[in-house]
Amino acid sequence: MDMDKLLAVCRRCEVKIIEDCAHSLGGKWNGRQVGTFGAAACFSFQTNKLINAGEGGMILTNQDEIAAKAILYSGSYANYKESGAVMGHHSLKLHLLEQYHNYTPNFSMRMTNLTAAIVRPQLPSLKEKIEVFKNHFEILRAGLEGDSLFDVTSALEKEERVHTSLQFRLPSFDLQQMEQFCNLCQEHRIAVAWFGRPNPLGFTSALSHWEYVFANQVHPEDPIAKADSGMHALPATRKIIEKLFDVPLYHTSTWQDADFQQVAAILRACAHKVCQVGCKSRL
Ligand SMILES: Cc1ncc(COP(=O)(O)O)c(C=O)c1O
Repeated sequence: MDMDKLLAVCRRCEVKIIEDCAHSLGGKWNGRQVGTFGAAACFSFQTNKLINAGEGGMILTNQDEIAAKAILYSGSYANYKESGAVMGHHSLKLHLLEQYHNYTPNFSMRMTNLTAAIVRPQLPSLKEKIEVFKNHFEILRAGLEGDSLFDVTSALEKEERVHTSLQFRLPSFDLQQMEQFCNLCQEHRIAVAWFGRPNPLGFTSALSHWEYVFANQVHPEDPIAKADSGMHALPATRKIIEKLFDVPLYHTSTWQDADFQQVAAILRACAHKVCQVGCKSRL
């Protein structure tokens, strides 16, 4: 994604940026770390992410007001003085916490000591893990690149990506072929997620699946609300997502390089098999 263009649009429209860095920890744009461009950034420690603590995450911000509110939202009650938030090198201004204390609901989303204890030992080897992820991604990407059925996105010049999965499109496939492709991969024990699936499966969902967002609109007949609804909004984005697939890399960091060459070969074979069967049945 072109961060320069995004930042320019947001600046022009006075939109504040909150970066969703759930899958991009360690990535850079023009040499600068993701998570440092917006007012705040959110990182996930859920099990499918680079730092895996089962659940949990962190918010990054250099704005005292946001930090103070985040501490209060997370459920510090009035114990923020004892929690370390207002002490030490990165001290927050106590008056902000006191100012917002009675006006900020407590969502009780504190990170437990147990989660923190699972996260901390992972930090010293984080850089190495990032390199492992990059290497595995590159092998898989190279294995699919050049195959006429696969469209694998390439990074922009200023992008330094860290991937927790490999995403690709099958532009020439129809709905039935895409379903067949996923099933065939599954038969070979490769879990391929498909964002464009008519109904969401597992963790993978897209805007068109989020009916809870649109079901509660105040004026469902309002033309602007309708145009904004999941079925009609962002047609260019939906077109990309329709044929977009995702192969996870997050639980495979101990695999060998050859394993990823084999995964690429299986993905290619499955896609070509679906294509052959489809072509024959149409004759
Ligand atoms: C892009 C993105 N943002 C946010 C999340 C949510 O992370 P969490 O489960 O820690 O809230 C996910 C989870 O997979 C994700 O893929």
